[in-house]
Amino acid sequence: MNNFRYHAYTDIRFGKGQVKCLTELVAPYGKNVLMVYGGGSIKKNGLYQQVKELLSDFNVYELPGVEPNPKIESVRTGVALCKDKNIDVVLAVGGGSTIDAAKVIAGGATYDGDPWDLVTDNKKIGKVLPIVTILTLAATGSEMNKNAVISNMETNEKLGTSSHDFIPQASICDPEYLYSLPAVQTAAGTADIMSHIFEQYFQKETGAYITDRYSESVLKTCIKYCPIALKEPDNYEARANLMWASTQALNSILSCGKGGAWTCHPIEHELSAYYDITHGVGLAIVTPRWMRYILSDATVDRFCEYGKNVWDITAEDKYECANMAIDATEKFFKDCGIPMTLTEIGIDDSKIDIMAEDTIKYNAMDRAYVALDKEDVKKILMACL
Ligand code: NZQ
Ligand code: ZN
Repeated sequence: MNNFRYHAYTDIRFGKGQVKCLTELVAPYGKNVLMVYGGGSIKKNGLYQQVKELLSDFNVYELPGVEPNPKIESVRTGVALCKDKNIDVVLAVGGGSTIDAAKVIAGGATYDGDPWDLVTDNKKIGKVLPIVTILTLAATGSEMNKNAVISNMETNEKLGTSSHDFIPQASICDPEYLYSLPAVQTAAGTADIMSHIFEQYFQKETGAYITDRYSESVLKTCIKYCPIALKEPDNYEARANLMWASTQALNSILSCGKGGAWTCHPIEHELSAYYDITHGVGLAIVTPRWMRYILSDATVDRFCEYGKNVWDITAEDKYECANMAIDATEKFFKDCGIPMTLTEIGIDDSKIDIMAEDTIKYNAMDRAYVALDKEDVKKILMACL
């Protein structure tokens, strides 16, 4: 098992009605609040009104309209508001995109240059304003992690940045907010949760037994509860388990003792950078193709272990077992209603070369579970068409 740092930092308030804690969570940081949110889902489901009432004694300024795959322009607007209104605390109300934008806004508030610098070079991140979140989508884990992913469509760049100070001070996670999610977001969010686990589980280090068993149990949770949430959107047990799975999948507990670079996320980020697609959909399409591409004598035991422990596969032959596990993964995403080819989401082969090149340019693919070069990424993307 590798050395690791695990610092549980975020004050999580999980469960029905936890929004009642909002005032208590925001108050220690000051009166001037920047409320960041997306395209309007929180107005439709009543959360916006609730937040405004709870914060009626605060000076609440608003940044609405943060896009899925949040754009740097929204971040710039938020930073300008922070500087102009002397903001004390940034409150993100929404999914991963809103929370990620809030993080870079909170960092940009004390930075003199263009906040895009903080995305391309995280060493430039200095003081970060306190961040509180109200999560409305189970997917990214941004509510309890140090990452933010921002897109610059002018340059076709979707890049991740991170800082320990981006970890939210507190996050309210009420599974009832997930009831209003469109089915595709429930499914894509689950694919994202599972992909976060795969990125950490399929790594060279094999001695982190406890972490691997924990990962398998979070994967099983997704497989059990996503179909239930899709059938019964207001099934509390399903939503609650998915919501906690999303937080656990990427709050660094599932990388304790592990290491190495990620694979499917870097490839998906290029798909989003060029085509602005839903993150989890891209991951669901890429993942089974990547799994098949890297299946070899060096990886077959790991895939078979995954098949046995997650899918209860009993095949004796290890290649048969591994292939059955990969097929089960693909079928699961398909059965959740995710389009499973790039063609279905309007992507052809015209930009595969540049996307493969950028995947290698921006990521340490040589340190991945199985090292990939540009030609490998091209072949995986071609298999996704
Ligand atoms: O904008 P609104 O109107 O709120 O609608 C959103 C949006 O259209 C909607 N939605 C969210 N909660 C809802 C809801 N609709 C109805 N009811 C609700 N309760 O869902 C749509 C997608 O929202 P978004 O925030 O974009 O989704 P998600 O949470 O999947 O975030 C995706 C972004 O996070 C990045 C992705 O790359 C992408 O940019 N990631 C962030 C990570 C992190 N910070 O650690 C890691 C991930 O791997 C990922 O890269
Ligand atoms: Zn992700």
